[in-house]
Amino acid sequence: MTGEGFNCNREIIIDSHQKGDVFCAIDGTEVVGFVVHNRKSVGASIDILEVRPEHRSRGIGKLLALDTIKRLFATGAEYITVECAPRKSELFWRSIGFMPTSEIRRSTWENPKLILLNVTQSGTLDIRQRKE
Ligand SMILES: CC(C)(COP(=O)(O)OP(=O)(O)OC[C@H]1O[C@@H](n2cnc3c(N)ncnc32)[C@H](O)[C@@H]1OP(=O)(O)O)[C@@H](O)C(=O)NCCC(=O)NCCS
Repeated sequence: MTGEGFNCNREIIIDSHQKGDVFCAIDGTEVVGFVVHNRKSVGASIDILEVRPEHRSRGIGKLLALDTIKRLFATGAEYITVECAPRKSELFWRSIGFMPTSEIRRSTWENPKLILLNVTQSGTLDIRQRKE
């Protein structure tokens, strides 16, 4: 989107877009932010979220994240995971309610991994048993 940031994931973004796994925030005719998500069998993940630098700190990132969470939970996802890359985005995800888990604290790349549980689902969830 900016030629920086997640440009290295361009192919993943295009592929996800074709599968309908990308939501965009639009200001007039301009795409100001986007989010890539992945619905798995039990849970889901938010893989990429980016807001154009000149539109940051206006609440767009939070709006995109909350809208995606709402849609994923509406499909019955029991939890949503996120890998905080860049690592400094951890505070952003925590401000939305994502928390570290006792088991999955770091990704393969040592980035913090956080989770948000769908509290409207009944029963308990042992994420250690989830191998998706
Ligand atoms: C992280 C990012 C998506 C946030 O988007 P944004 O539109 O600027 O964020 P918002 O304006 O919606 O801010 C939402 C909240 O997060 C906080 N926040 C935003 N960016 C933050 C950061 N880098 N560090 C800490 N807190 C942050 C804001 O203070 C705000 O808190 P509040 O609701 O208590 O006021 C944006 O900075 C971005 O695109 N960064 C580069 C890519 C990235 O890091 N993506 C996330 C990893 S996939």
